[in-house]
Amino acid sequence: MITGRTAETRGTIMLLPHPRGPLSAAVTAAIRRPDESLIKVPDLPEPDVALHDPDFQLTLWVLYELHYRSFDDAPDAAEWSPVLLAVRGALETIFDIALERECAGPVDLLAAVPAEDFPDQLFALTESFDSPPVAEHVQRRATLDQVRELLLLRSIYQLKEADPHSFTIPRLTGAAKAGLVELQYDEYGDGRADRVHQDLFATALRGAGLDPGYGAYVDVVPAETLAISTVMSRFCLHRGRRGAAMGHLAAFEATSSVPSRRYAAGIRRVGLGDNVAQYFDEHVEADAVHEQLAVRGICAAMIKDEPGLQRDIALGAVACLAVDDLSARPLLAAWQDDRHLVDPPAPPRSLTEFATSS
Ligand SMILES: [Fe+2]
Ligand SMILES: [Fe+2]
Repeated sequence: MITGRTAETRGTIMLLPHPRGPLSAAVTAAIRRPDESLIKVPDLPEPDVALHDPDFQLTLWVLYELHYRSFDDAPDAAEWSPVLLAVRGALETIFDIALERECAGPVDLLAAVPAEDFPDQLFALTESFDSPPVAEHVQRRATLDQVRELLLLRSIYQLKEADPHSFTIPRLTGAAKAGLVELQYDEYGDGRADRVHQDLFATALRGAGLDPGYGAYVDVVPAETLAISTVMSRFCLHRGRRGAAMGHLAAFEATSSVPSRRYAAGIRRVGLGDNVAQYFDEHVEADAVHEQLAVRGICAAMIKDEPGLQRDIALGAVACLAVDDLSARPLLAAWQDDRHLVDPPAPPRSLTEFATSS
């Protein structure tokens, strides 16, 4: 169990998180003074533990975040500091090996299917992947605090939902580009500020008595939760990994609609309101459309234009499923033992009154 303070947040601004070890200590210190150009990098972890090492994952998360909204105490120059980029490159080499090892079997199978069968085989993979039944647990059995813990953990990605994949837009052409822009337009609310998915998630957090601040819980979440975001940034910030970026998107969308229905039901069962369920309600229908768009409209079009991308698209899809699995397994195991991975802050009394009276 991890306990402790959360990152200080002020609205949408956040400060650099507290280090989780020597690597994040060295890198966060260097980010504060990017002109001083030297970092003494401690020993890096072996690839086998990179997905589970909080110091490694937090460091990558912080380095990637410089390209998103960044931190109130990080100078803008840190984003393109050659020294920081070199450190990031060294970490990515390890991360890539870790992801290859985690995903190789299913990737090789999916990479070898004929191009015209790729969409159906990708859907088949998402359906057959042996994922722990977190959504089913939430629907039927989760306690109020387990549901709140799930929202807390998901806040790390969902508060920047869709942002990673948007980096891929200028790297695509033709049908794939048109498909991605159509999909992202939905993610960003179809032109309505009150429907932006990342803001719907902030509303859900608020309704569950949690901090809706961007990055508010980065200090307390496990390495595997950070990896859900770092794997996206690894693919989406590199033009050369545009295949993996879109494969990741396809698997993400293809595993969202049915679980979203279960999450919404569980949220209402424990007494949380429509303001919390709304984010998940939205995704039941939206992602049933998005999965078709991502798999058939984007990935299939990319393979048609650039057949050499098929393996990387497959890798992105499998990495999405595998990393989600790595984060879900310990969570479900903790719940089955009546434990939390992260203790959510005490709920407001208005929420517990329902829970004790039901
Ligand atoms: Fe969404
Ligand atoms: Fe979506």
